[in-house]
Amino acid sequence: MKSRNSGRVKGVGEALQGQTRRGKPVSASCSEMTEMVLPSETNPLGKLLGGHIMHLVDIVAAMAAHRHSNSLVMTVSVDYLDFRNSVSVGEIVILNSQVNRAFHTSMEIGVEVFSENYLTGKRTHTTSAYLTFVAIDEHTGAPKEVPPLIVKTAAERRRFLGAGARRKIRLANRYGKR
Ligand SMILES: CC(C)(COP(=O)(O)OP(=O)(O)OC[C@H]1O[C@@H](n2cnc3c(N)ncnc32)[C@H](O)[C@@H]1OP(=O)(O)O)[C@@H](O)C(=O)NCCC(=O)NCCS
Repeated sequence: MKSRNSGRVKGVGEALQGQTRRGKPVSASCSEMTEMVLPSETNPLGKLLGGHIMHLVDIVAAMAAHRHSNSLVMTVSVDYLDFRNSVSVGEIVILNSQVNRAFHTSMEIGVEVFSENYLTGKRTHTTSAYLTFVAIDEHTGAPKEVPPLIVKTAAERRRFLGAGARRKIRLANRYGKR
């Protein structure tokens, strides 16, 4: 049985101990998408639709997951997602994604969304989200192993540790064990 729900949250070094597979750095799969907000994507207030932002979040997160795993992927979980500031028609929306942690067959991807007013150059943080993707074997359709993640910076280490804690909560919710 997998020990997916057991134990405390490990430190980065401890969590990576015994890994023999070749790892990939976070920088190898970081992704960015930039779009102009068009009237067809906005509500009657001229603000970008929440559902459209969710769609873009899923796509930019999938890009990082595909790049890290070099495989097909499926979204298995999306954490709490909020809209802190709206994005107006005519503004530019920028989405950044990175792998926060690779587990066995799954990866947590972090996404940040910003709006940019090109007249002033001002950027505003709009949304943050965590998504979990599972790598899928193209022949069998079953989950497949992903490369370990190599974390280098303090921010990458912080996200790596946070991802371990968040995974425990997700799996407890999914499988009903704590
Ligand atoms: C993705 C899918 C194939 C995985 O199959 P499964 O039977 O759940 O497989 P497992 O139980 O072995 O889980 C696979 C991985 O997902 C992880 N996982 C499952 N549910 C999770 C959740 N809610 N949150 C975080 N991780 C989760 C498991 O921990 C495991 O990761 P690990 O190997 O790194 O530990 C299956 O859940 C599925 O088809 N779901 C529908 C996906 C979908 O339609 N998405 C929308 C379109 S892309």
